[in-house]
Amino acid sequence: MSQEISSTTFVRSLQHVTLRQLSDFLDPQDSWKKVLAAIHKPTGEPRYTQLHLRRFERLVSMGKSPTIELLYDWGTTNCTVGELVDIFLRHELLAAASVLLPDKFQMDAGVQRHVPVQETVSPSSQATRLFDQKEQASDCPLPDSTTKPWEEEEPDDTGFYRFSYDRLAKITSNFDERPASEGGRRLGEGGFGVVYKGCFNGKQVAVKKLNCVDDISPQELKIQFNQEIQALKMLKHVNLVEMVGFSSDRDHPCLVYELMANGSLLDRLACLGGSPTLSWSRRCAITVGTARGLQYLHVNHHVHRDIKSGNILLDEALGPKISDFGLTRGSARRGSSTVLTEKIVGTTAYMAPEAMRGEISPKSDVFSFGVVLLEVLSGLPPVDDSREPQFLLEMKAEIEDEDLTLEDFVDKKMEDGEPLAVEKMFSLARLCLNDRKGRRPDIAQVLRQLEDVLTTSAEH
Ligand SMILES: Nc1ncnc2c1ncn2[C@@H]1O[C@H](COP(=O)(O)OP(=O)(O)OP(=O)(O)O)[C@@H](O)[C@H]1O
Ligand SMILES: [Mg+2]
Repeated sequence: MSQEISSTTFVRSLQHVTLRQLSDFLDPQDSWKKVLAAIHKPTGEPRYTQLHLRRFERLVSMGKSPTIELLYDWGTTNCTVGELVDIFLRHELLAAASVLLPDKFQMDAGVQRHVPVQETVSPSSQATRLFDQKEQASDCPLPDSTTKPWEEEEPDDTGFYRFSYDRLAKITSNFDERPASEGGRRLGEGGFGVVYKGCFNGKQVAVKKLNCVDDISPQELKIQFNQEIQALKMLKHVNLVEMVGFSSDRDHPCLVYELMANGSLLDRLACLGGSPTLSWSRRCAITVGTARGLQYLHVNHHVHRDIKSGNILLDEALGPKISDFGLTRGSARRGSSTVLTEKIVGTTAYMAPEAMRGEISPKSDVFSFGVVLLEVLSGLPPVDDSREPQFLLEMKAEIEDEDLTLEDFVDKKMEDGEPLAVEKMFSLARLCLNDRKGRRPDIAQVLRQLEDVLTTSAEH
């Protein structure tokens, strides 16, 4: 007798025949790994580490299905079909979604009809890579099980890989300086060094090669770097970029992160490389996810210090993840070095008045996030030398003084900007950007208000 399945059905009550059908779609090409990586504990931490992943991988050689074992295991938490289908949609695993809820997902004629299964932060129906990095999955093959060239590499007990510099050189084609969009490896450059695209264990990664700067010795850089790794090990959340590992055997320490296929929010708002405009509903979901990541940092007594759209990265499903939450602490400790001066100049557009004086608190992150909200509303860069006013922040005052209307400020490229929701987001940005930190909301209040903006948008 076939089973009636709805989004509230517990995964643990699915019949074996259904699990078998799912495994037919998810075991090949290791699609189950995407599902595993997307499963989180209620605290936001990933449920499974690299060690778990290995354990599931081993099941294949024992003739078992990793998909079925994974669903048995996760099923013990009383997770539902709705949650599982949401994960499928986020990763475009539509065939698997249609096994569970065939009425809601049509697989024929390429039609992808998405009926929201449950409230979710990032609308997953349009999971897409906006930013063509000229690499196919086949260019990043899984290691061959017969040769196992890097068999000695095992993650440590927290799931991080300790790489050698040479190994990272190898996976980035010798730190190929040609842009990734032109077939090279360079993704971009920031205040700490250059970021390259690499490939490790069948997964695309971003390798940040840190530069030694004049005012800091290689030894000191390594101490700071190690301290930051300790911090990164503790901080895990679905809206924070995950670290895969690091290398520290040469003068250029490197950090290896999961690759965020859609680059930074800064670049996507600017439609760099011809990427399509982010819709209003997508922008709302991005702000909610970012606020969740920031709330997690603040709850864990961590101030980011460099919140900006360039540090909000977007995954394949355009889900936001905050990056550089470890390094920025290190940078602030560099004192009044030239690099710090440059860094302050580079991020002035986001800095709270008290942060300019060196006073850092969670409320200074809230201020910076207010600038990000202005970027999301307007699609404009935070600073533009050829613009009057140069700083986006100053446009807030122009709107308050009625020299500029909110309607004129809002990004004309969006077609679904709902006026009430837009107004609510702008009011929230104003609160975040209050010069007096005591008058700014805390991140929990910001998050609640953004969820309200999201609901307002969805209702219209
Ligand atoms: N994990 C990642 N996946 C994809 N792209 C990334 C990743 N990390 C960084 N990048 C890209 O690399 C570029 C440089 O990033 P980096 O963090 O070094 O500098 P930044 O964010 O511009 O400045 P800062 O040094 O102040 O953080 C950015 O354009 C960013 O989009
Ligand atoms: Mg960055």
